[in-house]
Amino acid sequence: MWTLGIESTAHTLSFGLVDSEGIPFPSSSATIRPEKGGIHPREAADHHKDCAAKLLFDLLDSNSLSVSDISAVAYSQGPGLGPCLRIGAAIARGLSAKLDAPLIGVNHCVAHIEIGRQQCGCDDPVLLYVSGGNTQVIARLEGKYRVLGETLDIGIGNMLDKFARAQGIPFPGGPVIEKLAATWLKENPDCDMEGLELPYAVRGMDLAFSGVLTAALRLVENGKPLGAVCWSLQEHVFSACVEVAERALAHTGKTELLLGGGVACNNRLRTMCDLMCTERESFSYAPPRMYCIDNGTMIAMLGWLELGSGRITEFTSSAIDQYLRTDQTPIIWA
Ligand code: ATP
Ligand code: FE2
Repeated sequence: MWTLGIESTAHTLSFGLVDSEGIPFPSSSATIRPEKGGIHPREAADHHKDCAAKLLFDLLDSNSLSVSDISAVAYSQGPGLGPCLRIGAAIARGLSAKLDAPLIGVNHCVAHIEIGRQQCGCDDPVLLYVSGGNTQVIARLEGKYRVLGETLDIGIGNMLDKFARAQGIPFPGGPVIEKLAATWLKENPDCDMEGLELPYAVRGMDLAFSGVLTAALRLVENGKPLGAVCWSLQEHVFSACVEVAERALAHTGKTELLLGGGVACNNRLRTMCDLMCTERESFSYAPPRMYCIDNGTMIAMLGWLELGSGRITEFTSSAIDQYLRTDQTPIIWA
């Protein structure tokens, strides 16, 4: 009895598995990396279509399984890029029909949360969900994950990727910015922010990153070393996220902070969250990196939880929803 999870919201197609006890197994994934420009939805969808069969069979082979071992099929129903979501949904419907296995359309953002809870063993955390397309501070209240604060313009990861792209660094830019910042700090341990100040992204409980992006690009144009700007950029935007997360902890009275989303791979962000939580006698958690970035296993995990609570998706309501919100999904499994 295995639940298959299919992730296809944006740049990555990924298949993952959980077993009958809900134990997760690592995903088989492929990510489109355009040589120039951003992610084009149609090209990403073509990429997903072209590599789907190989990825699925690689996953089954590496776990010594065959297609008939799949007893339920979960897929990302939204939010995300329409053409990409449609590829994942089409594969899920096809497998579900062929195998006569239940179909479960899940919320991608909630899947980031649930794999984190499962991996870190935390119960009722405030979530700092930082990815390419999303930046949200979330807490569970009355059966839904409520968004207490979020970006008013672009996601923090998209901002990092756009800054990187302008320097000729291909997608994903976040990890390269992290390395450049760390190298610069190692070589300049006494550095300060003079001449490297950027706008602060906090807007009440919300955040905004496009002004920071413009100002960081201008610093490089004006001759500041790239490593120094990467360092300043990380310090400014991560501090802003951690400040909002801290206020969410204070307002809700919760004592656990859980990181999720691709930007949660970043060591500097993880350290800042640890420091903040230690100071307020709370606990900071971050899942393994393979479960921070988009992955099929988290979709399988949420599908397994929802199926266990009796929820399945009929074919007639299996259409994708590009704009599905975190707080639209009732938490029926907790
Ligand atoms: P969502 O649909 O949840 O918004 P996503 O499509 O953005 O997800 P993820 O895999 O969750 O996909 O996140 C990808 C983002 O994470 C990219 O913007 C990438 O630059 C960023 N990222 C990955 N690793 C790091 C890192 N070490 N430091 C900073 N950013 C990182
Ligand atoms: Fe994601």
